[in-house]
Amino acid sequence: MRVTFAGSALPKKGALVVFAAEGAVLSAAAQTVDKNTGGAIKRAIGASRFKGSKGQILAVSAPHNSGLSRIIVAGVGKPVDVTPLAMEALGGKIYAALAKTGDKEAHVELSPAKAIKLPAAEMAARIGYGMRLKSYRFDKYRTKEKAEDKPCLAKVSFGLKDFAAARKLYAPLDKIADGVFMTRDLVSEPANVLYPESYASEIKALTKLGVKVEVLDEAKLKKLGMGSLLGVGQGSIRDSFLVVMQWNGAPASSKEAPVAFVGKGVTFDTGGISLKPAGGMEDMKFDMGGSGAVVGLMKALAGRKAKVNAIGVVGLVENMPGGNAQRPGDVVTSMSGQTIEVINTDAEGRLVLADALWYTQDRFKPKFMINLATLTGAIIVSLAHEYGGLFSNDDDLVKKLVAAGEAEGEKLWRMPMGEVYDKQLTSQIADMKNVGTRDGGSITAAQFLKRFVNDVPWAHLDIAGTAWTKTELDTVPKGATGYGVRLLNRLVEDYFEGK
Ligand code: BES
Ligand code: MN
Ligand code: ZN
Repeated sequence: MRVTFAGSALPKKGALVVFAAEGAVLSAAAQTVDKNTGGAIKRAIGASRFKGSKGQILAVSAPHNSGLSRIIVAGVGKPVDVTPLAMEALGGKIYAALAKTGDKEAHVELSPAKAIKLPAAEMAARIGYGMRLKSYRFDKYRTKEKAEDKPCLAKVSFGLKDFAAARKLYAPLDKIADGVFMTRDLVSEPANVLYPESYASEIKALTKLGVKVEVLDEAKLKKLGMGSLLGVGQGSIRDSFLVVMQWNGAPASSKEAPVAFVGKGVTFDTGGISLKPAGGMEDMKFDMGGSGAVVGLMKALAGRKAKVNAIGVVGLVENMPGGNAQRPGDVVTSMSGQTIEVINTDAEGRLVLADALWYTQDRFKPKFMINLATLTGAIIVSLAHEYGGLFSNDDDLVKKLVAAGEAEGEKLWRMPMGEVYDKQLTSQIADMKNVGTRDGGSITAAQFLKRFVNDVPWAHLDIAGTAWTKTELDTVPKGATGYGVRLLNRLVEDYFEGK
């Protein structure tokens, strides 16, 4: 779907979107359209419960004298309701209304009242962004869907006075959406198609955007001493990989230490010999969601040419049972030199991240490291699907992450860490074991990771509850959410681009 911005102009065909505020107060453009159509909008409002409240949508079909397929009236609510995030959500609602109709083209006419503080250009850009984000579909394997059942909205034009400013604001948002879509694509892809090697070649495509991509194979990982990561993949016929992405967008003169993002890329998690139950196991294709967010983030940063040096590191493995699979009780040696007794082969994400984190701090000496992982079922018990779990050794990084999450609607909730939890990882025969008791399962997982970050400021985002949605969200269709891309892009933009 293409989103464009130009001067005010009411269309003669297609769908038209106009706005109303709380109390069903029509915008200037809406009033004009109402007049042109013999009062069609006011009549429709009178026959409905539409009040112009935040997020309300009213569709007026085939309005008189207009040639239009329909008019969508979108409610912005009170002036204080008009925030960037609310406008994105409204864009999502507008898209959803238009996706059902068969409209190919829509025009959105903006003429906001003076009382609204958010500039019209920003309103337009955010509505367009929300529409684009909501327009995502993963339908490449549906060969029998009837054309008439598919959404076909291909073009959305915005009309407003300050269209030049809207274009400028929208351009980077469009690139962020590209990143979000890449993450959603990767996470949606089934594990027979997306396995470590094919995944690594997908990531190679970022080279076109100026990202340096290195693919480290098993021989290389062995040499580096990544026994923890390799142990997870050894039961699979698929080889394991570590992929390193570098985006150097800061001025060459700045010599800034990079920021680093690390992702769990378990392309399928059967649990290994500690096999998961069959029910719902298909969901575990999403277990590379953390890495998917890192890849999408790198795409977004490169796409919008962010003025930052950013590293992305993803550990790609498949966790399978098999004749060569790792056994419960095995002891592996991580790149850090620390030994791990693998009590449960289903606690594999932390084993992958242990080596990926150690490698990242050792090689790049970053300002901070943030890892993302669909790490524990327990975080879903704690936070459901509302917040990502945030664990960190650095209060300042926490503050920034929480603020970025609020701003983007990808929220985080800080969880506790500490000595008492760490104790649970004591092993009789190695430096640590890979699981504690069931209690506080997300926290002991975080404690485990913390042992591999050295003294670098670090945050772990447990996104097991937020990487996938079974219900429609404002700007996210059912399925892979792309959670993390917007959040971390915002973190970089607000705090680390040296503006
Ligand atoms: N990938 C799973 C976490 C997960 C489970 C995400 C369910 C979403 C839904 C992870 O590898 C895992 O299996 N974790 C175990 C840890 C346990 C063995 C300590 C879990 O959460 O049950
Ligand atoms: Mn597992
Ligand atoms: Zn897993």
